[in-house]
Amino acid sequence: MTTPHTVAVLGLGRMGTAIATRLAAQGRDVVGWTRSGRTSDTVRTTADPNDAVSQAGLVLLALFDGPACRQVLDTVRASLRSDTIVLNTGTIAPAEAAELARRLGPSYVHAPVLGSVPAVATGGLRILAAAEQDALDRARPVLDALGTVRPVDGASAAAALKLVANHSLAGAVRALGDSLRQADALGLPRDEVLDILELGQLGGLVARKRPFLTDPPGTAAAEFTIGALAKDMALLAAASPAPLRSAGGLDDDPARAEADIAAAATAPGVADAVLEPLRAYVRGHATGDPAHFRDAFLPSARIEGIRDDAFVSWSLDEYCALFPGRPAPDEPARSRRVDAVDVHGTVATATMTLAHGAARFTDVFLLVRTDGRWLIANKAYHRHS
Ligand SMILES: NC(=O)c1ccc[n+]([C@@H]2O[C@H](COP(=O)([O-])OP(=O)(O)OC[C@H]3O[C@@H](n4cnc5c(N)ncnc54)[C@H](OP(=O)(O)O)[C@@H]3O)[C@@H](O)[C@H]2O)c1
Repeated sequence: MTTPHTVAVLGLGRMGTAIATRLAAQGRDVVGWTRSGRTSDTVRTTADPNDAVSQAGLVLLALFDGPACRQVLDTVRASLRSDTIVLNTGTIAPAEAAELARRLGPSYVHAPVLGSVPAVATGGLRILAAAEQDALDRARPVLDALGTVRPVDGASAAAALKLVANHSLAGAVRALGDSLRQADALGLPRDEVLDILELGQLGGLVARKRPFLTDPPGTAAAEFTIGALAKDMALLAAASPAPLRSAGGLDDDPARAEADIAAAATAPGVADAVLEPLRAYVRGHATGDPAHFRDAFLPSARIEGIRDDAFVSWSLDEYCALFPGRPAPDEPARSRRVDAVDVHGTVATATMTLAHGAARFTDVFLLVRTDGRWLIANKAYHRHS
């Protein structure tokens, strides 16, 4: 029997289970369904999504992605009345959200959420809700039980705003990982580092994710997975023409896709082997001995840049011939540091800053791993004036 107050929650993953539990705890009649057939300790479940939908006045989707939404809505099409509110909390592409809004008409509420499982439990989500006023009014009691509503004009815009929010989250996780690696390199105790980071710009993230960040990490269940964040960044990359760092770089280990995003901040830094040719290159500059450059570069390497306003492109032999076999007289005052290394399987890019007297250079390297060893395939440089 259909009851306007019955909520069908389709998708009992991390968010769906938390949402269904919260709504039930707030006195709602909730029926849950999930693809795997998993049941719940906290809400009534059914093995048939049509059964769930036909009982409900509001159908809440907590599914992984756009294709999952489409598949589930296709399955329940016959049971879905035209006036049943479909409230979609999933993070999907702007175009997918617009398509669902077109397909489901005025009863569709696109409502991606900011906040994770703990925020659901306290009704602390921030909900970006795009819908016609009547649908929004009808969904209001459920939305208010879950968090604070921020109306947004259009499903596509709500989906896009959610992706941008998660882009900043990906950046914060990356920044946190960089800070933890610097702290490790300085030999600082992890607990003390986390105490201090909690006081700073990433404080909220560190406080929420602290159990995942300790050394060794705790065993808390993942709340928001690396795989889900990677999905969101892939959606943003596909929707936006602006260059976007791949979320794959958050953690290149596919075995960790189900780990919490915080685990990406404790992933090991770049492997030592990829730094070896860069160290040999530094030794070449420090000693003036070109033999080190032959350890650093592939024989086919080209070294290129602008010198005296003209483009130069040296072979490795030509480059080595520039070095006299002894250190520069001002070597003690010179410095070189690696700024960034990004590894993509068997290729990598790196940048280095060299301060040679008054001259400062940025070197950009392309590296390849061949025969089990990393070597510099090419270098381009810029001399700062
Ligand atoms: N977790 C968070 O902190 C968080 C926060 C904000 C937004 N979100 C977004 O909310 C959505 C749900 O996230 P989650 O963390 O709860 O993910 P999750 O734990 O991986 O759960 C995903 C749910 O989708 C179902 N599903 C996946 N593919 C399906 C398909 N093809 N057909 C039918 N059902 C399918 C799964 O069913 P079975 O497991 O039963 O197979 C499961 O119920 C995602 O869009 C996510 O990006 C998550």
